[in-house]
Amino acid sequence: MNRMGGMTTDLKLIDEKGLRLDGRRPDEMRPLKIEAGVLKRADGSAYVEWGLNKVMAAVYGPRECHPRHMQNPERALVQCHYNMASFSVDDRKRPGPDRRSHEISKIISEALTHVVFTEYFPRTSIDVYIEVLQANAGTRCAGLTAASVALADAGVPMRDLVASCAAGKVADTVVLDLGKEEDNFGQADIPVGFVPRTNEIVLLQMDGDLTPDEFDRGLHMAVNACKKVYEVQRDALKRRYAARAVDEDVPAPAEEKQEVA
Ligand code: CDP
Repeated sequence: MNRMGGMTTDLKLIDEKGLRLDGRRPDEMRPLKIEAGVLKRADGSAYVEWGLNKVMAAVYGPRECHPRHMQNPERALVQCHYNMASFSVDDRKRPGPDRRSHEISKIISEALTHVVFTEYFPRTSIDVYIEVLQANAGTRCAGLTAASVALADAGVPMRDLVASCAAGKVADTVVLDLGKEEDNFGQADIPVGFVPRTNEIVLLQMDGDLTPDEFDRGLHMAVNACKKVYEVQRDALKRRYAARAVDEDVPAPAEEKQEVA
C-alpha cells in the first residue's frame, strides 16, 4: 500500500523491473513539448504539453495597474492567475477560484517576480494567465514553465527563464515528474522552480514525507530535469523568433560567429 494525503491503493507503482506505471524509469521525465506565441491577442503566450497535461499561458503588460491602490511606485507587480478548466480533470471541477488555485497563483507570481526586472516598470502590472485544459499532476510546474516562455515571448525583460519540474517518492523510490496515480498514491512530491543562469531555486514546495537524504536526491533530480526543460523552452523561443523574422521579413539572428584563426 502507498499513501500520500491519506489515499491508499493496491496499484503497483514500481514493478519488479524498477519501472513505473507508464513504463518510465525513476529518473525519467514525461515527454514535453512547448510552442511559443500561439495567441494573437495576448502580448505573449505559450502552450505546453507535458505528458497528459495541456496548459496555455498568456501574458498582458506591462500595463497600468488597477485598482490603483495596488500600484507600487517603484516596481511592476507580476500577477499570476492560475485556473483549471472544469473539463480538465476526471470529476468535473467546479468553475472559479478555490484555495488551491489561489495558492498556485501566489507561488508562481513569486517565482516569476524573482526573474522579471520589475524595477523597469513602476506602477504597472504584468498579468500572467495560466489555463489548465487537461490535468494529470504537475500542472503548477507546467504552468510556471509555460508562463516564463510567454513572458519572454511578450518581450518582458528577465534575468532568465524559470524552468520547473517536480520530483517525489513512490513505493519507497525517489522518482522524477510524478504522474496522476503517483501523485495520488505516492509518498511525497517536491515541485521545484529553477533559474539556470543564476543557479537559484525560486519555487520549492514539499507535500508528504522524505528523509533528508531522499530530499537531497529528489531535489538534485528535479534541478537536473529543470535544465532539460530549459532547453525545450529556449528551443520554443528560437523557433518563434525565426518564424516571426520570416513573417516580418527580418533577418534571422546570426548563428554564433566561429573564431577564424
Ligand atoms: O497539478 P499539481 O501537481 O501542480 O497540483 P496538485 O494539487 O498536486 O494536483 C495534482 C493533480 O490532481 C492535478 O494535476 C490534477 O490532475 C488532480 N486534481 C484533480 O483531479 N481535481 C482537482 N480539483 C485538483 C487537482
